[in-house]
Amino acid sequence: MDKRKLNLWIDRALVPVFVGVIWTGLELHAARHVADPLFGHRWSVSHTVVSLLFLLLAGTHVYGHWGWYRALTTVGCKDRHRRMVLLFSLVFLLAAVTGLLLLLCGAGCALYLGKFHYLLGLIFGIMGLLHLLKRLRILFGIAKPRAAKNR
Ligand code: HEM
Ligand code: HEM
Repeated sequence: MDKRKLNLWIDRALVPVFVGVIWTGLELHAARHVADPLFGHRWSVSHTVVSLLFLLLAGTHVYGHWGWYRALTTVGCKDRHRRMVLLFSLVFLLAAVTGLLLLLCGAGCALYLGKFHYLLGLIFGIMGLLHLLKRLRILFGIAKPRAAKNR
């Protein structure tokens, strides 16, 4: 399988895992307001497993588009489209780092970190949905993936 085809399959695999991250994240948020600790624990485990899988796939996706990030140093990011993708990447990075921090420090974590992560998660969800919808034709194989150069 050539690199472009492999990238397309990773893009496709990202969709259900992305939905899983949002879903388990929202359920975990709701569970934090319920007194039953077992209920919360289940969603905490599900969210952690799905998020780690998403990190793995998203890391491969970013690696596959590394040329796009490298091109920022030459073509810059003057157009709105590039700025949006860059902002989305930063929000993703922050959501991932705060999520991993929550995992590492567990119950000892300050409450505001959980709230900050949830807020970032919501922004990430909206931006991710826009990112995905703009590329739906590529995901369905109707439009061809763009050239590997600068991507
Ligand atoms: C939510 C799940 C995601 C899906 C379904 C998805 C899907 C896609 C698709 C179909 C493309 C176009 C591929 C091509 O033209 O060859 C693309 C491009 C790209 N994606 Fe994603 N992506 C996701 C998440 C992410 C994340 C989390 C990041 C960054 C951290 C990211 C960064 C990029 C970049 C830099 C490009 C190339 C620039 C562009 O096409 O505008 N994507 N993505
Ligand atoms: C980049 C993707 C994400 C990663 C890697 C990630 C990872 C994590 C991890 C590892 C935890 C700690 C689990 C625990 O120990 O209980 C966590 C907590 C949480 N996540 Fe995420 N997450 C992501 C996105 C999201 C999204 C999109 C949402 C919501 C829409 C969300 C909502 C939450 C909530 C509510 C908590 C509990 C916070 C607290 O302890 O108060 N996450 N996340």
